[in-house]
Amino acid sequence: MVRFLRHVIIDTDPGVDDALALILALKSPEIKVEAVTTVVGNVSQDKAHRNALKILDFLNACEIPVARGAHKPLIREASHAEEIHGESGLGEAMLPEPRIRSSEASAVNLILEKAYELGRGPTLVALGPLTNVASAILAEPRLVDMVAGLVFMGGAYNLTPYGYGNVTPVAEFNIWHDPEAAKIVFESGIPLKAVGLDITANPSNSLTLDRYQEIDRLGTRRSRLVADLCRGLIKRFGIVQLHDPIAVAVASNPDLVETGRFFVEVETAGLLTRGQTVLDRRPRQPIERRPNLEICLSLDSERFMKLFMERVVYE
Ligand code: BDR
Ligand code: CA
Repeated sequence: MVRFLRHVIIDTDPGVDDALALILALKSPEIKVEAVTTVVGNVSQDKAHRNALKILDFLNACEIPVARGAHKPLIREASHAEEIHGESGLGEAMLPEPRIRSSEASAVNLILEKAYELGRGPTLVALGPLTNVASAILAEPRLVDMVAGLVFMGGAYNLTPYGYGNVTPVAEFNIWHDPEAAKIVFESGIPLKAVGLDITANPSNSLTLDRYQEIDRLGTRRSRLVADLCRGLIKRFGIVQLHDPIAVAVASNPDLVETGRFFVEVETAGLLTRGQTVLDRRPRQPIERRPNLEICLSLDSERFMKLFMERVVYE
């Protein structure tokens, strides 16, 4: 029985784990997906957009508007991760061309329209670089007060043994891809909940080979899609990190995580440290360095994996 339904807008760059996260979001009764916006990141905007449409089409979620967003980061050039997510962005999954049409609004306009329309404050869930979210804040600074907050997958906070970078020694991909956008968002005053590598890179929170084989054996329409999405990553790494599904799970079931509040800045200038999320742990900090991020420190792995398997694979 769901007592409180959270309205969410998902910004995403599918991406294998983004695709899994979209499935989880659409199958989570605690949240209602009001819109999906796509951002350049793991793959180009065109591929990310088509992939989001394909996943929604697969799930018969034709009523959810899907809008195109940024084609490049605010200032820098795009740099994709197709070596991780496959050439299409969806691993080995071969989904038909989507029947769903794209929204005529841009991502920024769709985010703003939904925020105006849903008076009670939707939650933004960002699963890719923060380019679209920063652009929406620049276009309408009052957005920060119109939403309940932003749950985002991004950052490496050095708070657990897994909190180091994945694209460089110190930077996580989503923040690294558009650090200027992340800086705008971090400084905007929007209530932020960070789902970073500190919890998503923990092997206990990942899809293991055993689980993958269980999924691969099932032979249902859904399990075949999940297995096709994950096969390349399993072959290469023996495990699939579930970064974006964890962010969705945190948005739908916040009691899955323990969090702490910190002041964090984004490095935009460093040659070696671009995109680093610099966390201030000094006990005495100047007053203006009040915590701006609620950071996830640990995840109830067992509950999360149960939820993931039930909703993404078996449902
Ligand atoms: C993040 O980057 C992408 O590879 C994933 O989709 C996730 O959003 C992890 O660093
Ligand atoms: Ca992503």
